[in-house]
Amino acid sequence: MELVIVAGGLGTRLRPLTFHRPKALVPLLNRPQVLHLLDGLPDAVDRVIVAVNYGYEAVRDFFRSADVGRETVVVKEPEPLGTGGALKNVEGHVRGTFAAFNGDVIDAIDLEAFLRFHRRHGRIGSLGVWPVPDPAGFGVVELDGERIRRFVEKPPKGQAPSDLVNAGRYIFEPEVFHFIESGREVSLEREVFPRLVVEGLAAYRYEGYWSDAGTLTTYLVAQAVLLDSGRGGIAGDSDTARASIADPVLVGSACLVEGAVGPHVVLGDGCRIGRATVAESALFDHVSVDDKAEIRSSLVGAGAAIGEGARVVDSIIGDGVQVPPHARLADARMKG
Ligand code: GDD
Ligand code: MG
Repeated sequence: MELVIVAGGLGTRLRPLTFHRPKALVPLLNRPQVLHLLDGLPDAVDRVIVAVNYGYEAVRDFFRSADVGRETVVVKEPEPLGTGGALKNVEGHVRGTFAAFNGDVIDAIDLEAFLRFHRRHGRIGSLGVWPVPDPAGFGVVELDGERIRRFVEKPPKGQAPSDLVNAGRYIFEPEVFHFIESGREVSLEREVFPRLVVEGLAAYRYEGYWSDAGTLTTYLVAQAVLLDSGRGGIAGDSDTARASIADPVLVGSACLVEGAVGPHVVLGDGCRIGRATVAESALFDHVSVDDKAEIRSSLVGAGAAIGEGARVVDSIIGDGVQVPPHARLADARMKG
């Protein structure tokens, strides 16, 4: 069976980190985000098809050198075709019933159990669904038992028909391709699902964890969820003897950490954290943070430097950016 990963979005909501890297390769717990989707795939999946547009070369080169344990085909869209168009564009690579995943979501779905559910229902498609407190920014389903009665993408605030959202996890029969026009941009969620509801779509609820990771807020939730599921740790060659660590944290290789770090902090390789405070944040490789600086709920790109006494909150700092001493950044996007 094929698994198609739609991973071609521009990643605008993670800019400036996505100016120089495709969203699929943005590190999450120090691994390209897309790799988290490939953890624990059943043997039934013998081929992974990655549908990309923006950053095609980088994704192709990554999969050429990474051994992910199964055949991987990276397919380029000539131009962004939307989530539906991206599927249509890989039709020639699909041989039968197939799975499709949004590339920017992490979860603990058991694809084998999902497949059993799909076969039992015998519909053209099954959608994984997940309850969230505020469904407005998602696709929302209205159910009749396990059948989807209505699908609404990004309903206006207060008008969501339920709190169950489209988890970005699908199993389809190849007939789904008849419902997607070729050669133009098609949104699976806005155009195709409303039509497929009439044919019959089943909603699959599952357990464990789920989070979108495509915005600053959801990225940090995804990171926290993964750390809480036991994926933290401190690399043996990193020095945290003088640090005060609040678990869970993940500290990469060759870091020197002196300050208060955690909870829910990820440090890439070669980071140097002075007597500073870092909480609920991810710092990519080779970031330095000077004494008395404070970083909260933020992402800091590779090689960036945070000056003494600077305060960075709810912000995304681009690769290589130097934040001056005593700067005050809140809800900022800073590129070099
Ligand atoms: N190949 C390709 N081409 N991929 C695309 C394109 C495109 O033109 N546009 C978007 N994608 C990929 C994105 O990279 C992402 O992995 C996935 O398709 C979903 O697109 P997003 O832009 O991230 O959509 P969203 O987060 O606003 O909403 C989607 O995900 C929610 C769950 O996180 C929808 O599927 C919602 O219904 C869903 O609830
Ligand atoms: Mg998304």
